[in-house]
Amino acid sequence: MTILRFYKLPSSLSTAFSSRHERSFSGSSELVTLTTRRNQCWRFSPLKSSNGSPLAGASWKDDGKEMPVPKVPDIGSQLAENRVSITVVGASGDLAKKKIFPALFALYYEDYLPQHFTVFGYARSKLTDEELRHTISKTLTCRIDKRENCSDKMEQFLQRCFYHSGQYGSEVDFCELDNKLKEKEDGKIANRLFYLSIPPNIFVDVVRGASRSASSPNGWTRFIVEKPFGRDSESSSELTRCLKMYLTEEQIFRIDHYLGKELVENLSVLRFANLVFEPLWSRNYIRNVQLIFSEDFGTEGRGGYFDHYGIIRDIMQNHLLQILALFAMETPVSLDGEDIRNEKVKVLRSMRVLKLDDVVVGQYKGHTKGGKSFPAYTDDTTVPKGSLTPTFAAAALFIDNARWDGVPFLMKAGKALHRRGAEIRVQFRHVPGNLYKRKFGTDLDKATNELVIRVQPNEAIYLKINNKVPGLSMRLDSSNLNLLYSERYPREIPDAYERLLLDAIEGERRLFIRSDELDAAWAIFSPLLRELEEKKVVPELYPYGSRGPVGAHYLAAKYNVRWGDLIDSS
Ligand code: NDP
Ligand code: BG6
Repeated sequence: MTILRFYKLPSSLSTAFSSRHERSFSGSSELVTLTTRRNQCWRFSPLKSSNGSPLAGASWKDDGKEMPVPKVPDIGSQLAENRVSITVVGASGDLAKKKIFPALFALYYEDYLPQHFTVFGYARSKLTDEELRHTISKTLTCRIDKRENCSDKMEQFLQRCFYHSGQYGSEVDFCELDNKLKEKEDGKIANRLFYLSIPPNIFVDVVRGASRSASSPNGWTRFIVEKPFGRDSESSSELTRCLKMYLTEEQIFRIDHYLGKELVENLSVLRFANLVFEPLWSRNYIRNVQLIFSEDFGTEGRGGYFDHYGIIRDIMQNHLLQILALFAMETPVSLDGEDIRNEKVKVLRSMRVLKLDDVVVGQYKGHTKGGKSFPAYTDDTTVPKGSLTPTFAAAALFIDNARWDGVPFLMKAGKALHRRGAEIRVQFRHVPGNLYKRKFGTDLDKATNELVIRVQPNEAIYLKINNKVPGLSMRLDSSNLNLLYSERYPREIPDAYERLLLDAIEGERRLFIRSDELDAAWAIFSPLLRELEEKKVVPELYPYGSRGPVGAHYLAAKYNVRWGDLIDSS
């Protein structure tokens, strides 16, 4: 029997079998081609020893572990026999119910999960398999396309979900989980994914227990770690150091779910697959860039967590900064995850450390509108009275490199504001010697070309251009070239967690944060965060449901900028 060797073997191979596989012959050699979800091809050919004779056995490596090689003639079925066990640690929690189980079901529903997979919930709460199924069934939806067999699919999915109650720091409990996993894995090659959907203070306990007692005996073992990754440079380095006592960097998937959002994923396509944008993408044409996040609700239910972190750590240092890095990076050598992360880290390392002068912090206060009362942040019973934690922040950041020298990157993030949204706004420079400038009156800013990438809700990309109003007079109007996703692509957009879970299963690291990226991100914010706390800077109060503190306008004005979201109602 011929034994095959993989030419270029991705970690994702275990799931590649869900895609096409074809066999062909080239001369006397048999070739097998696997085509994955991303249309990447891997070719296999007979393994020969150095003297050219076929070998009796071979192996390949993943995450540093030796793996058996599937044999011809049934590569597809061999691979299809591999197991993937996904353990959601913290399964009783909010994120697991709201996002992780629904995302796993959506992947199953769309046939993206490997043929043999099992999902385990792990937490301290005492639940039976049935109770877990009952709880998660309430949040599963057939939202992508409402096929008739949805309820059957849901039932089939739930039958693959199990629960194990255990303590987070107990190796014995993880050992019991290991036994249950082995039972389901049936002696086959088993790959294991642990999703740490738990508070950060127990990350290391879980990684210690799970890696020592429940790592896969013969396949890969990976850990998705939820944010927050520390509170500052020191605690983040300490967390990384502790995780690396049990795991290699390749096993750690630090999730930032904003990287899994459709329009964030599209940023690189927009830049690098269109001739029209990239030549404009620099200080020569761009006046400022705005990264804006707002929520129209407060910390409801998460005040305890939030008060320890605040909006800068919760949103800016990760979600908005990651978008900024993707936006501003140089062209990567390839689309390979490491090439992209190399470019992102360069941008982050070129950024100026943020100063207190370039930051405004706010906190929402109670407000009554239309007879309805909205609470102040400090009314949350889980928030200490007199807390100075910011629920709003605006900041001006700079990238000191040739491309972006002097261009302000303004960030704004807040809770309990007048609307929910996340967007990137690119304001271009004024047209030099504009022939039509008199038509715009004194306010040339109104004539600024602006590219808006609306990440959510109502995903869209639009470009504000100046246009002649039809008619005999010469009247100009600012109008939008508008790509509204719901009109152009009526199919529902997958949730960010679906993309990220699938990537973690496939070993694709592009959308996860590498430890050097994390260090560089903290280096920008840590001194400011320390200063805010040491000086006990009092946040400017703003009413619940308002547009945020007025200080944000002054900060933008300092750099000759106006917040685009407050002018534009598109
Ligand atoms: P929860 O507070 O709901 O915690 C998840 C589970 O962990 C709980 O069900 C509980 O399970 C266990 N747990 C909670 N507190 C403790 C504690 N002090 N000691 C030991 N175990 C505890 O968290 P979320 O589900 O909201 O979030 C999980 C992770 O994801 C966190 O790191 C969070 O920061 C992050 N995150 C959450 C988001 C969200 O929208 N919820 C969004 C983005 C990130 P049991 O008691 O059964 O063991
Ligand atoms: C999380 C923050 O990372 O992102 C939350 O911890 C915030 O405070 C959430 O509400 C926003 O995510 P999304 O996908 O709803 O915009």
